[in-house]
Amino acid sequence: MPQPFAKADPATVFRLFDRTARTYDLLNDLLSLGLHRLWKRQAVALLQPRPGERIVDLCCGTADLALLLAERVRPRGGVIGVDGSAAALEQARQRAGERPWLPLEFIHGDVLALTLPPGAADGVMMAYGLRNLASAAAGLRAIRRLLRPHGRAVVLDFNRPSHPLWSQAQRSYLRRVVVPVARMLELEAEYTYLERSIATFATGPQQETLARQAGFAVARHHPVAGGLMGLLELHLATAGQS
Ligand SMILES: C[S@@+](CC[C@H](N)C(=O)[O-])C[C@H]1O[C@@H](n2cnc3c(N)ncnc32)[C@H](O)[C@@H]1O
Repeated sequence: MPQPFAKADPATVFRLFDRTARTYDLLNDLLSLGLHRLWKRQAVALLQPRPGERIVDLCCGTADLALLLAERVRPRGGVIGVDGSAAALEQARQRAGERPWLPLEFIHGDVLALTLPPGAADGVMMAYGLRNLASAAAGLRAIRRLLRPHGRAVVLDFNRPSHPLWSQAQRSYLRRVVVPVARMLELEAEYTYLERSIATFATGPQQETLARQAGFAVARHHPVAGGLMGLLELHLATAGQS
């Protein structure tokens, strides 16, 4: 039997994503009807990666975003994907191997204990990772540490809709669609945690406050897909300072 999800324990989180790695991309497409691709493209558009830049994709998983970002920083730039799940990184490396011209490398490790030097990145992306970290505040500090002065970051994740109807719709979808589909793949426990992780995740305004406390001059949370998802836009400097 899989162990119950324990948010505060990174090893448990990594094991969970080790178990989901092989079917992760398929389930993402199936369960979001492909919409996760659109949300990821919105995240990339908000980050605006440019040729020559160094971008770090934290909690990169199977590298959906790292691959998109690597296309955008060519030539001369590079992308580093970081993840704590060895199985997810195996998938990521396999996919990157199919496009060997992309400037992409991977680091296996905990984003809260990264050895990359401070200021190593022009931009940082984190998709569906912040919610899974032991502490969202620590995650935002880790992002800030990686950025050069005037750097920027985008965090994409589930959001708790403020409207009760949307909230109810999200709950029903998770219980009636996501969990039953995951059950068919013997991943029920792994996907049951989703509802709990969303329920305990910081709201958009709370994320903005945490980000300012972490040292970001600009922190704006944009609801996406009727508020079911959210994009947190972060800048170390205000427009006048850059
Ligand atoms: C829901 S997946 C998202 C993957 C990818 N970013 C995407 O959007 O498809 C979350 C990923 O975060 C990773 N993760 C969670 N906590 C982590 C941590 N503390 N350090 C490194 N990776 C972590 C998991 O291993 C998993 O691959």
